Amino acid sequence: EWTMRNFIATEIEKIRESVKDRKVICALSGGVDSSVVAVLLHQAIGDQLTCIFVDHGLLRKNEAEDVMKMFKEGFHMNVIQIDAKDRFLSKLQGVSDPEKKRKIIGNEFIYVFDEESSKIDDVDFLAQGTLYTDIIESGTKTAQTIKSHHNVGGLPEKMKLNLVEPLNTLFKDEVRKLGEELGIPEHIVWRQPFPGPGLAIRVLGEVTEEKLEIVRESDAILREEFMLAGLDKTVWQYFTVLPGIQSVGVMGDQRTYDHTVGIRAVSSIDGMTSDWARIPFDILEKVSNRIVNEVPHVNRIVYDITSKPPATIEWE
Ligand code: XMP
Repeated sequence: EWTMRNFIATEIEKIRESVKDRKVICALSGGVDSSVVAVLLHQAIGDQLTCIFVDHGLLRKNEAEDVMKMFKEGFHMNVIQIDAKDRFLSKLQGVSDPEKKRKIIGNEFIYVFDEESSKIDDVDFLAQGTLYTDIIESGTKTAQTIKSHHNVGGLPEKMKLNLVEPLNTLFKDEVRKLGEELGIPEHIVWRQPFPGPGLAIRVLGEVTEEKLEIVRESDAILREEFMLAGLDKTVWQYFTVLPGIQSVGVMGDQRTYDHTVGIRAVSSIDGMTSDWARIPFDILEKVSNRIVNEVPHVNRIVYDITSKPPATIEWE
């Protein structure tokens, strides 16, 4: 009989049998898949697992701290946090093309991970959160790549590590159930999708620390208000973007010339198509007021009312 409990027991056995007393590394992003893989591996082989969490400086507010706290204090796992903010930002300097940004971030991620993992002695295995759907999708590439989602299968071949991919027979909803069964907190298991390149593709054009700050702070306000209103349970994905437009406003009796922040909130099943979410006006009003009052250099808020297609969910 196939149950999640049986699946866990069987997978743990399989992992122990193939890994034996050797070492495994994994890249932890804080997303559902990598979190589930890490916790499953940890249950199987304990301290033989080392996780590497690369903070590229493009994460949401408090995200790095939350992830580290959960895995270190909550699960008592070996997690190395790499602060690579400066490295990523300097690589992104002067780059405004969305696909170039994605490539730079993807490549830099691999370099950093490679560098850090080579500091750990005698590693034989790399654990990855590859899902069944990842395998299917990479086999049926459409002629034209609309956006390069580089998270899959990107790790260096020269590392010559054996792969451990315990989720490769599962669908996303099964991974969430598995995560719940393994005791991973609900807010991680039911987390909205977050792109690998992070906030870099929500700052349109060139990425700077100042622009990231506006997106990070406005996004934190949006998430807080959605949570208070219970919308985090029903809206598939929601975030803010910085289009890089400045416009005229008035604050007190002063003229301002500041940034516009866009709010994106969508309903979707799988991200392939989506509709804009019908957010109650009073929630939009509250979010708008808070962002212009609390986030410096913002004087205008717009709500994105396009579906996908023709728009995409992210603005880049
Ligand atoms: P789009 O913008 O293509 O997004 O409608 C569909 C879903 O994919 C996410 N997305 C990405 N995820 N790396 C990722 O890991 C990326 O480069 C990337 N671009 C978009 C997006 O957040 C949405 O959930």
